Parts: sequence; C-alpha cells; structure tokens
Amino acid sequence: MTDPIRTESPRTESIRTEPARTEPILRVRNLYGRIAGQQVVEDVSFDVPGTGVTALLGRNGVGKTSTIRSILGLIERTGEVTFAGSRVDRLPTHRIVQRGVGYVPEDREVFAKLTVTENLRLAERDAHPNRALVEALFPDLVQRRAQLAGTLSGGQQQMVSLARALLNTNRLLLVDEPTKGLSPKIVGEVTEALLAAAATVPILLVEQNLQVIRRLADRVVVLSGGRVVFTGDAADLLDDPELIQRYLGVHSGADPADTTTDAAVPA
Ligand SMILES: Nc1ncnc2c1ncn2[C@@H]1O[C@H](COP(=O)(O)OP(=O)(O)OP(=O)(O)O)[C@@H](O)[C@H]1O
Ligand SMILES: [Mg+2]
Repeated sequence: MTDPIRTESPRTESIRTEPARTEPILRVRNLYGRIAGQQVVEDVSFDVPGTGVTALLGRNGVGKTSTIRSILGLIERTGEVTFAGSRVDRLPTHRIVQRGVGYVPEDREVFAKLTVTENLRLAERDAHPNRALVEALFPDLVQRRAQLAGTLSGGQQQMVSLARALLNTNRLLLVDEPTKGLSPKIVGEVTEALLAAAATVPILLVEQNLQVIRRLADRVVVLSGGRVVFTGDAADLLDDPELIQRYLGVHSGADPADTTTDAAVPA
C-alpha cells in the first residue's frame, strides 16, 4: 500500500529493511498477565499482521485492556511477545515504546489543564513529527488549538489522544476503546480517522461497537475469561450472528440503520 506520509518520513529506510509484510508485526505466545496477584490474562496467543486493523474483542472485563497492558509491560507478565521480529517481553515499557509502539489508552488521558497544542507538543518524540497528517485528520483540533483539553468534548479528547500517537512514526498502534461513550456522529468521525490512520500503521484495536468493527477490522481476536476463544477474518465472525451472540453477547446489528447495537456490550 502506498503511503505518502510515511514515504516522506526520515525513518523510511528502517521501515523498508523490516521483514516481509507477511511477517506479523506483533506475535504473542502464551501470554499471562497478573494484577495484584490475580491472573487476568491466561495463555493468550495471537498475531497482529503488518497491515490493517486487528480487533481485540470480548465482553466487559474479559481482559482486553490487561492484554494490551501486558504486551506493553505495564502489568506483571510472562510469555513471549515478539515485535517486528525481536522479543520484547523482558523489556521495560519505555524500551518497547521506543521501538515504535503507540498506545492510545482506554480513558484518553489528556492533560486537562494544558491546551490542545501543548498536549500535542508534549507527545512529539520524532525529529520530524507527522503534524501534517494530524492536522489533515483532525481539522477540529486545529480550530481548537488554544483550548484547554479539559474543556473539550469526549470525542475531541479522543481525537487529541489519537493525534498524540499519530504524531510519531510508529510501527504499531494499540488503541483501547476509542469510541466508548461517544455520540453516533462522533463515533463516525473517530472511525474515519482510524481508517485513515490504518493506511499508515497497523492497529490492534479494542472495540465493542460492531459497526465500527465492521468498518475497520480485517482480523478479529476474541477473548473470554482472559483466554482467546476465536481468531479469524473479521467477516467470519461478523457474518455469523450465532458466534456474535456467543462471544460478544449482542445481536449482529447487520442492519446499518440499527444503531441499537452501538451500545457497549453488557457484562
Ligand atoms: N487495577 C486492577 N486491580 C484489580 N483487578 C483489576 C484491575 N484492573 C482490571 N482488573 C480485573 O482484571 C480483569 C480484566 O480487566 P480488563 O480491564 O483487562 O478487562 P476489559 O476486557 O478491558 O474490560 P472492559 O470491557 O470493561 O474495558 C477484570 O476481572 C477486572 O476486574
Ligand atoms: Mg478495557
């Protein structure tokens, strides 16, 4: 896939020397994660291909966020995590992030008392941050550059959070429930921004909105009780109402006019 923004990046050479695109960018094997002595991720194994969106799914509390935090070394973990061909499961979080992993956490976590511009400047890690990409994806933020982030709507804060990750040339983005609690219109805007972002970087996306998953996901990994219970092409799950009911506990929402399935999946 051509990518004008990345082509202009000074890091193009390092990207070209990476393994072939058929290699997964992230390989997780037998990952276990623990919080305060409690096992919250159990023997999780899956791959994230080097392009497109892989959705990490499952009902509330099954361990989606904990899986991402285990990959990043933010919680105690064991198992194998291979990123861009190298093991990272013994590295501290900052070393993993430096290798090119962007994280957009579940609760957005913008600096409320700083302006939009200040939030974005603090996130810039590269010598040549992708400001043009961010401004093209989030024109609303350009308008609001002097506004304190704490006074933005939830959707606008989500865009700041995504923009912070996209400013740097990452080799993988981990995005946790970016549409949670947003109105349908803003969900659509965030979805389109993610679709554009996915043309520049592979994404592991935690998401519960089936319409967003339909629009974005190529592959799906489904967790239940901290374990992987299904992996496959997104269509294999999304076109099977029985599987959706079994794994996610919601109806398929096949009718695009039906927004009732946009609600968070019940526990
Ligand atoms: N800080 C914590 N201390 C103790 N237990 C925790 C903590 N964070 C999460 N857990 C537990 O770990 C399990 C997995 O939680 P996790 O947040 O990873 O699930 P999730 O799939 O992301 O859920 P959600 O859909 O609500 O975001 C749950 O049983 C949860 O109660
Ligand atoms: Mg979560």
